[in-house]
Amino acid sequence: EEGPRLIVVANRLPVSAGYASEGKWTLQLSAGGLVSALGGVQGFNTMWVGWPGIFLPAGRERDALTQTLAAKSCVPVFLDAKTVDLYYNGFCNSVLWSLFHYVPLQTDSRLSETRTLQFQWAAYQEANRRFADVLMRHYRVGDVVWVQDYHLMMLPALLKAKSVDMKVGWFLHTPFPSSEIYRALPVREELLRAVLKADLIGFHTYDYARHFVSACTRILGLEGTPDGVEDNGVLTRVAAFPIGMDPSSFATALKRSDVRNNIAQLKKRFAGRKVMLGVDRLDMIKGIPQKLLAFEKFLDEHPEWCDKVLLVQIAVPSRVEVPEYQQLRSMTHEIVGRINGHYGSLTHVPIHHLDRHMTFHELCALYAITDVALVTSLRDGMNLVSYEYVACQAANAGVLVLSEFAGAAQSLGAGAILVNPWNINDMAAAIRNALTMSETERRQRHRQNYMHITAHTSQVWADTFISELNDTHVEAELRT
Ligand code: UDP
Ligand code: G6P
Repeated sequence: EEGPRLIVVANRLPVSAGYASEGKWTLQLSAGGLVSALGGVQGFNTMWVGWPGIFLPAGRERDALTQTLAAKSCVPVFLDAKTVDLYYNGFCNSVLWSLFHYVPLQTDSRLSETRTLQFQWAAYQEANRRFADVLMRHYRVGDVVWVQDYHLMMLPALLKAKSVDMKVGWFLHTPFPSSEIYRALPVREELLRAVLKADLIGFHTYDYARHFVSACTRILGLEGTPDGVEDNGVLTRVAAFPIGMDPSSFATALKRSDVRNNIAQLKKRFAGRKVMLGVDRLDMIKGIPQKLLAFEKFLDEHPEWCDKVLLVQIAVPSRVEVPEYQQLRSMTHEIVGRINGHYGSLTHVPIHHLDRHMTFHELCALYAITDVALVTSLRDGMNLVSYEYVACQAANAGVLVLSEFAGAAQSLGAGAILVNPWNINDMAAAIRNALTMSETERRQRHRQNYMHITAHTSQVWADTFISELNDTHVEAELRT
């Protein structure tokens, strides 16, 4: 294909491969907000560069996977198992993901190699170099390169070192924490300096952008300006670009006959009961235990509700090799078991907890039949599940209970019931409020949120970021 392209570089491709049997693999749509948002973007000649989820040695199977991915405009970056363990499980998900969500760094008492920051950091840099190498093999002058998320913070520097004229943007899908938290990171300077090489740096909210600029001023001694960060007269633009989703794909799905059938069946199965829903990757930041404890508290205080309400919790398996995620899984199961054992009856189980991935159409049906959605993140960059719920509730105007610690609280705060997920009593009260809210109030709240999500789509997000990246680049060229 001719013409400049948009190259999206992300750790995870929109489809992930998994091992089936020896040398064989299966493909699955990847879960998570990054893939959902970018999947709803059109109008660019887009190519993806990313990790396919498995390692295959050079040979027939690897070629076959590469070809299958090429048909989806995806270019794989193959990483060996040890690199994945140190880079992805280790540095990305134990270190950066935690710290960016205000979970303090842990020191492991065993001095094992995989849990030692020095080795994880080396692997992180190595993995970033691998992404840069693969990208350079496909890059053509004029292409726009859009680097995604905390996995690839070294990439802007690596790419600019190879081509100063490359248009490079970087967007962070997580919060950027207060500089007081960020400064605990042993390699705090290296990461900041590397992302500052991008032409444009984007965050979900103004607060995250502000935190980033303060980190640069306090840790690197650079100057923060209203437009970004300045280093010896060179400005890196820093701004907020709140992400969104694609409401029309949900509206279209809800009209399909299989989805309508599924909705009818679910309604029949749950008749006479209110349905509350949680949809989260099984991640510490989602506040799943806190949500369950609030539900338990609610049932304890309102026994008359016990057989009139149920909570469906979809806990999508995520980062299953990281110890913190394994611990969370056992803890969650323990709480679910206790609540179901205590408040269940021969005919009714209060919590339907599913450790599994949903198809897009299953998810649409669930969103549509739900009376109350519970999003209780302890920290969350934006949280698109809250947007998707609003998108599917045009008919029923269900209530969204939303954590004030999710980026989405800044956009859906007016229509949602905002809660502090650490305050279990308050959350139990919010559940009651949501379950008993008048239809007039529900409709009015839903209307406000619906207006927001249809105006701030992922398309608008990407268009704004890319056009600003192009402008920034033109300005920089004019100055030189
Ligand atoms: N999702 C998914 N598969 C599932 C359940 C959810 O792909 O089985 C999607 C969901 O539709 C949403 C995304 O995963 O688009 C989660 O995004 P969010 O921003 O809420 O959180 P993240 O997972 O990125 O932390
Ligand atoms: C979050 C991150 C994404 C990531 C997704 C799923 O949304 O911001 O970069 O892709 O979680 O996590 P995973 O580790 O499976 O890619």
